[in-house]
Amino acid sequence: MAYLKHPLFIICSMFFIAACSPKPTLEVPEAYQKGQNYFHRVCANCHGSDAMGKQTKAPGLIDEDYLTANFSDDEIRATIIDGVDNMPSQSRKVTGEEITEIIKYLRYSQKAADLYIEPEEEEEEEEEEDQA
Ligand code: HEC
Repeated sequence: MAYLKHPLFIICSMFFIAACSPKPTLEVPEAYQKGQNYFHRVCANCHGSDAMGKQTKAPGLIDEDYLTANFSDDEIRATIIDGVDNMPSQSRKVTGEEITEIIKYLRYSQKAADLYIEPEEEEEEEEEEDQA
């Protein structure tokens, strides 16, 4: 396995990986790395690196709209399997187990991003502050 450390091999692999889908930029604990890899293989082309959806045609999933309270695990699974409007079904690209890992990874990333859902009353308070 000495060739694995050969500089040419490393450089070639880096080009190969870069040529495929967007790479993850965040490090996640080992338990979520499988899901992270599946996500970047299947979803990141459209949803962006780390599911942030920057400059991509698909929405970022590290967003309040996709926290469990707004978008359940089952809904994510159904979206992947059935597709939705502009998202084609991904059912032939991932197995059920891979979907489970992807969801675990997404939930971890949402938590790591410290997202929270603002209670509705707060918006009204903000308006009052603006007037004062
Ligand atoms: C070919 C591009 C493409 C791929 C690949 C893709 N998506 Fe999407 N996805 C989209 C688009 C576009 C939308 C927005 C759909 C719409 O509202 O029209 C979307 C929407 C979603 C939504 C939100 C659905 C909703 O109802 O708001 C979730 C969740 C999602 N994708 C998860 C994933 C996951 C997880 C993967 C990988 C298994 C994935 N997507 C792969 C393009 C893609």
